Formats: sequence, structure tokens, C-alpha cells
Amino acid sequence: MQRVHTRVVGRAREIELVVAAWAADRHVLLEGPPGTGKSTLLRAVAGELGLGFEFVEGNAELTPARLVGHFDPARVLTDGYDPEVFVDGPLVTAMRDGSLLYVEEINRIPEETLNVLITVMSERELHVPRLGRVAAAHGFRLVAAMNPFDAIGTARISSAVYDRVCRLSVDYQDAPDEASIVHSALPHAKVDPVWLHNVVDVVRRTRTHPDVRIGSSVRGAIDTVAVATSLAGLRGSSPQDPAVGLDAALVALSGRLRLREGCNRSAETIVTEIWTEVFGTQPEKGDGGGGEGKALAPTGATTAS
Ligand SMILES: Nc1ncnc2c1ncn2[C@@H]1O[C@H](COP(=O)(O)OP(=O)(O)OP(=O)(O)O)[C@@H](O)[C@H]1O
Ligand SMILES: [Mg+2]
Repeated sequence: MQRVHTRVVGRAREIELVVAAWAADRHVLLEGPPGTGKSTLLRAVAGELGLGFEFVEGNAELTPARLVGHFDPARVLTDGYDPEVFVDGPLVTAMRDGSLLYVEEINRIPEETLNVLITVMSERELHVPRLGRVAAAHGFRLVAAMNPFDAIGTARISSAVYDRVCRLSVDYQDAPDEASIVHSALPHAKVDPVWLHNVVDVVRRTRTHPDVRIGSSVRGAIDTVAVATSLAGLRGSSPQDPAVGLDAALVALSGRLRLREGCNRSAETIVTEIWTEVFGTQPEKGDGGGGEGKALAPTGATTAS
């Protein structure tokens, strides 16, 4: 647990519950908005427990054959349906090795593939045509993650899946943890802690803004700080320069906001509005405000010379 804490900011309860569920040999489903650290947490816990792990990206193209494996068609022609000719997919590999099968975005996989998983989760074995029975070695477990805001939402996941997993709901981190996450993601960025706190505040406000359906995750805060740092380098300025910060936020956040239907304002307008709320009035173009005793470049006006 202590080692996991060195890799994951906060999340003490979630870490404890995942460790307990795995120690009890249960399948686990983590459900939460994007960027809430589900993958980070699972990788850290699996890594520290020394569990092997097969990673599968859930999407509409994940057919049962891709998940389970297939007979190599060219070799079938010469050798027939010999077990040697079977190319194990991630599910069969995880079952044979007794490792974790980690399925991201499980709600996106097709129904027939989901049905294969449902059977394996309760029976711990699989029948593959022409290959025969594959039994799950001790230690095999499914761990899945999904995003409840996804257009292909939780309704896609049948109660048969929910009935076979322990579910852990993961919400956004609190503000101090989000600031620490940005810090740990960008250990070399030299930024003022108060400014960083304000950037995190801007990102958090995108989640409750009345015109926004889905706001930015902490990934938006990490990108704002990263872009502001390099933009400040290009402009010979500092990330705390209001013009630099706002431009970085526009680039980092505007694409991440999902606006409510009927909202006729742009994401840029909303980011600017929130930024101004948090940081105060923006300097007019070219007025060089910013309080650092240094002339600051107006937004977009600098050219490399
Ligand atoms: N608790 C945390 N400790 C350290 N880093 C974190 C934490 N939470 C999030 N992060 C960082 O935030 C980013 C997003 O985290 P991660 O990919 O784990 O989220 P996720 O919930 O799996 O997102 P998605 O649903 O989009 O797959 C990563 O860069 C990760 O390093
Ligand atoms: Mg993830």
C-alpha cells in the first residue's frame, strides 16, 4: 500500500478497496469520468502486487476472435487445426498465465465479445471451437474501467456484467490533490504554487459551469501548465503572465469542454470567462500588465526573431 501511495496521489480509500477486492479474488469494475486516475491506480496496484497484466482497449472493433485468439489461417492450411497453430489473444493469455485482463472502456465493446467475458467471469473457463477448453489459472481476474459520461453509457453494460464484478465509483480528485497531480506530472515545470492553484480552480470550474455538460479533467490542468511553461519560453515571458496563461488555457481546455445543447456561446468564450473570474481582469492587448515589472507580449503578437 505504501509503495502504491508513492505512485498515486491521494485515493487512499480506492487503493485499499482495489487491493482488498483483488486479494479476495474478485473481478473489479472502476467507473468514473475521464482523467480521474483509474488507469493510473490500476497500473500502480497491479505493478506493486507483482500481477501480470494483459491490456485491452475496448472499442467496437474488439471482436471475440481478437479477444480470445485465432488459428493462423496460413498455418492451418499446412498443419491443420493444431493447438500449436492457435495464436492466443489477450483473454487466453491472461487465463493461461493467471494474470489480470485489463479492459479499458468496457462499455464500448460489442455485445458478443461482452458475452464471452460474462461466461469466463463466472465459469473461469472458455470453450474455443477446434481448440477445446481453456481453464483460467489461479490469479486470473478481470479488471475493467469505464466512463459513465460516455455516449455509449452504462446502459450498454448488462446487469449480467454488473452481477459478476465489484464496482468502485471514482470521482474527481479534490483541489489540493489535483494540484499535486499536476506537480507530479510536470516535475520540472517551475511555476508559482498560487498560480497553479488558480489554474486548477479554472479547470474545476469548467465542471460546474451552467453552459458546460462535461468539463475538463485534470489532464486539462496538466496541459495548461505545460503549454504555459513552453509558451512563456517562446515569448521570453513567464507562465504567470496573464496573456500567456490565458492563451495556454484556451489551447488546453477549449477542446475538452462539451457544451450543453442550445448553448450558443463558444468554448473559447467560456474558458475566457472562467479564467477572468479566477485571475481577475485580463490586460488589454499590449498594456503589458502582469505585475512582474517586465513588459509582457500581447496575446499572439510575438514573432520569433
Ligand atoms: N491520483 C493520481 N495520481 C497521479 N497521477 C494521476 C492521478 N489521477 C490522475 N493522474 C494523472 O492524470 C492523467 C489521467 O489519469 P488516468 O489516465 O489514470 O485517468 P483515467 O481515469 O484512466 O482516464 P480515462 O477514463 O480517460 O481512461 C494521467 O496523466 C495521470 O498521470
Ligand atoms: Mg484510463
